[in-house]
Amino acid sequence: MQLLSESIYDELELADTLVENAVGYFQLPFSMAPGITINSKRYPLIPLVIEETSVVAGLCKNILFINSHGTISASQYGGGFIGQIHFPDIKNQKSFERNILACKDHLISKANQNPCKSMLERGGGVKDITVRLISRTDGKTMGVIHVLVDTKDAMGANIINQTCEYLKPIVEVESGEKSLLCILSNYNTEKITKVEITLEGIDETLAKRIEEASLIAQFDPYRAVTHNKGIMNGMDAICLATGNDWRALEAGMHGFAARNGQYQGLSNWIANGKQLKGTLEGPINVGIVGGVTNIHPQAALALRCLKVESSTELAYVIGTIGLIQNFAALRALVTDGIAKGHMRLHLKNLLKQTDATAPEQEKALKLLEKIFDTKHYVSANDARNVLKELRS
Ligand code: MEV
Repeated sequence: MQLLSESIYDELELADTLVENAVGYFQLPFSMAPGITINSKRYPLIPLVIEETSVVAGLCKNILFINSHGTISASQYGGGFIGQIHFPDIKNQKSFERNILACKDHLISKANQNPCKSMLERGGGVKDITVRLISRTDGKTMGVIHVLVDTKDAMGANIINQTCEYLKPIVEVESGEKSLLCILSNYNTEKITKVEITLEGIDETLAKRIEEASLIAQFDPYRAVTHNKGIMNGMDAICLATGNDWRALEAGMHGFAARNGQYQGLSNWIANGKQLKGTLEGPINVGIVGGVTNIHPQAALALRCLKVESSTELAYVIGTIGLIQNFAALRALVTDGIAKGHMRLHLKNLLKQTDATAPEQEKALKLLEKIFDTKHYVSANDARNVLKELRS
């Protein structure tokens, strides 16, 4: 607990290891949610780093609901990360693909003997090399080489980038073409995580309303973005707590949400009488070794609390929490509305911005809740008026 409640960084040593020009640390709340069981394995505590009011409360309430009404399963298909080597304007399309594919085994073996040597020893390494040709609107053709790297339990951005940079001059020689850039792709369709929650014995009307709410996000991109923002509330919070790159997760998930040519909700809920089944899938690319996970003491603590044994398990937990967060949001939206759940903390925040003493805040909170119940909204002005009344 000391690790969480006190500022553990007297010096800028860690910050200086992570970024440049660090002048201090910026703290965010670190919360815990109750555990969940996925594929019959229990994950006892869910660490979350998030500043947004009501996310943790909604999650905790609905984890308990799901634990008593349902089961969670998860799976992962595919097994690697995509590194890309880009040739923006190739002269000879036919020979480009042929030449690269002809030396594919040689390229894989060279990469595995050099930048991926230790990854290979851990059972990973470069697994495949493929070629894509993309027509440009100006009549030119782009060539893209995909290097598929299994990074085992690391997120592996560095090793993928190094492997691509190592291979770039070699494939330039082999193809006779000039590459412009190479880097990993955060849109990693080669490793997709799928989670499924099945709830039994729930209110039929609620189940049907949640199904309808998830359908809205399939058809209306304006709603889909907000729907997915709620999912990312949960996913990002664990990503952040465990020292993973949540911007990479966000980018990949949003890319996946647009895979059919229109941006859509990342989850689907299907009602069948008293049963409600929710699914969510996407490229949840995270690690439990390497990067910040190893050097940030609170991230290491979060991973210990979670008790995940592989990056796959961490992806399962992250996907599940995203789906539960989505269930929590949809459940609130199709019943009381979202404002009610947010209100108590929102009112506390409003009062914090005044000069009210602690006993005044307590009394004012009760009065403001009454105002919300009748008017359905409360403003900073209401908070000031209530205080004036209390003091008169
Ligand atoms: C707010 O952070 C997230 C929600 O807007 C998600 C949703 O509307 O589904 C409540």
